[in-house]
Amino acid sequence: MNPFDSLGLRHDGRTLWVLDQTRLPDEEMWLDGSDPEAMIALIKRLAVRGAPLIGVAAAASLGTFAARGASATEYAAACAALRAARPTAVNLMWAMDRMKTATDPVAEAQAIFEEDVRLCEGMARHGAELIQDGEGLLTHCNTGGLATAGIGTALGVIRRAHEQGKRIHVYADETRPLLQGGRLTAWELRKLGIPSTLITDSMAALLLRDDKVQRVLVGSDRVAANGDFANKVGTYGVAVQARHHGVPFHPVAPFSTVDLACPNGAAIPIELRGEAEVRGFGSLRWAPEGMPAWNPSFDVTPVDLVTSLVLDCGVFSREDLNVGVLTKVCG
Ligand code: MRU
Repeated sequence: MNPFDSLGLRHDGRTLWVLDQTRLPDEEMWLDGSDPEAMIALIKRLAVRGAPLIGVAAAASLGTFAARGASATEYAAACAALRAARPTAVNLMWAMDRMKTATDPVAEAQAIFEEDVRLCEGMARHGAELIQDGEGLLTHCNTGGLATAGIGTALGVIRRAHEQGKRIHVYADETRPLLQGGRLTAWELRKLGIPSTLITDSMAALLLRDDKVQRVLVGSDRVAANGDFANKVGTYGVAVQARHHGVPFHPVAPFSTVDLACPNGAAIPIELRGEAEVRGFGSLRWAPEGMPAWNPSFDVTPVDLVTSLVLDCGVFSREDLNVGVLTKVCG
């Protein structure tokens, strides 16, 4: 494999390295993800995460496995196991389906990485046109360079608007329970020098009421054919609040996140994670031991709450989505 480098994923030609996102922002530790079994464990514990990145990382692991001489049987088994590592982000299935039939797995993994970088550029180009000078922007979870091979989905759009000289201010939801906003988006925003403020998820409604936010931009793990979409739990609540306050709400995603086999949001599988993630964080526990907890990792936002969807190939309004535009542009 040719060497490649992104914010959370690196290949030095022999070994695939992933930045352990569970240790950010305090520690930048790179782990060997060359072996598919190791990669599955890294994906499951969210050391590598974000819909596009898990597809790219799984493909790179499989490409490395092939380059190291895996047999056809070993390769097929690893491909199937990686495909099942997490259930909601369809980018993982999309990448594994490509790798399954690839005649040259090393070249295919490389192409998936490079394509994701280009898709991020497309979303940034189209999405940044929406953002006006002086806007306050609200985002949820982490959708930047850590979640993709390129500059990101929603955070990539925000970054591009900042690079264009627009005076924006970003409000980042901390994103309970695993704090992807507080740990990862905050880390990226600081690195990029984008004016920003961290809030707890429960503060978003107040900000919207007080006219501090003119636009909401979020990522997606799977967009159904009708425009309903799954994203990190809490996104649906933000969409309801944005609608109540008349603030435009935009999911941002590459075509590889669109799943035309899902007719609507009800068909999207939602990952249920362990109860301990709600009772505490790391070694800290604040709820009584054994307290029952519910932990859906994602929720579904209906298309009715979407102002427009930013794809790599353009911006599509709710009206476009209602007449089935995704079947045309992603079919
Ligand atoms: O559980 P995670 O951290 O993988 O969830 C990530 C998100 O929900 C992102 O918003 C989504 O993957 C789209 S961003 C590229």
